[in-house]
Amino acid sequence: MSNQNIKTGAVLTSGGDAPGMNAAIRAVVRTANSLGLECYGVREGYNGLIHGDFTKMGPRSVKNIINEGGTILKSARSSEFKTAEGRAKAFENCKKHNIDALVCIGGDGSFTGAKVFNEEFGLPVIGVPGTIDNDIFGTDNTIGYDTALNTAMEAIDKIRDTATSHNRVFFVEVMGRDAGFIALNSGIATGALDILIPEQKDSMEELFGTFRKAEKVGKSSSIVVVAEGEKLGNIYDLAKATKDEFPNFDIRVAVLGHIQRGGSPSCADRVLASKMGYGAVMGLVDGKSKVMVGVKSNRLIYTPIEEAIKKHNEIDKDLLKISEILAM
Ligand code: F6P
Repeated sequence: MSNQNIKTGAVLTSGGDAPGMNAAIRAVVRTANSLGLECYGVREGYNGLIHGDFTKMGPRSVKNIINEGGTILKSARSSEFKTAEGRAKAFENCKKHNIDALVCIGGDGSFTGAKVFNEEFGLPVIGVPGTIDNDIFGTDNTIGYDTALNTAMEAIDKIRDTATSHNRVFFVEVMGRDAGFIALNSGIATGALDILIPEQKDSMEELFGTFRKAEKVGKSSSIVVVAEGEKLGNIYDLAKATKDEFPNFDIRVAVLGHIQRGGSPSCADRVLASKMGYGAVMGLVDGKSKVMVGVKSNRLIYTPIEEAIKKHNEIDKDLLKISEILAM
């Protein structure tokens, strides 16, 4: 069933920014325009809905942004949108601008907001997964993950150079508040001695065992990649406990932080974002709402937004096993 009533849509980016969000905005605006629909950009995520920060967008307002990191619409984690009062103001502004549908590019927190907004006011919404964490169900990859992964890999490669020169042990923290996708894959790609992720139960004894094995096989330097959300402890405590156990180790800590969120999106992220932005608009005019667009095995698919929020993609535990074998 198509939705012929949609004449004007709005697009926003919400939550942590991710490389490729601009490519997604471009795809939404240009697809909408190609169908004769009007399109507004909303600045600073849901805050812009609440404060009426709307800007009319056409094909030329998204020129030369496909290669740009960040988001031209800016992003925010809106606490005001979590209140019924804030959402009511947001809906008033949507009515004022004759918005018939909303595209929300963001992560699961942003989708929760979109879902509640739809349930309260009936405005059709669609989610586009944009987060470097890759922790969203209903898509093989999220927008920004591939770029962030490559940024992390390149940074760890550089750390390896200095680790080798000084026979040092490095603990490197990568982003991923609740998910270990970046840690696991950047760890494998850089030949990490060990990878610590929240999805896997780790222990200091196991980590020490790995260091002992590494000493035995004659490794003179090593890298342990730790996801930000690792449950065993924060990276400084892990490094300290290791120093206490192995006083002869020369240990350093490197926290990669927000460099992982910036930079020009990779080819894979630009293509993914273009496909998803197109898919979001096509889905809405097709009558879909309260779903998230995703790409699985190269095909556009739509998943109910509550499923995308609640479920999680399984981490590939085989990769941990493989990395353990290859690290020695
Ligand atoms: O959700 C993406 C993410 O980059 C997480 O990996 C990280 O924990 C968080 O955002 C950091 O958020 P902020 O930029 O608000 O500090």
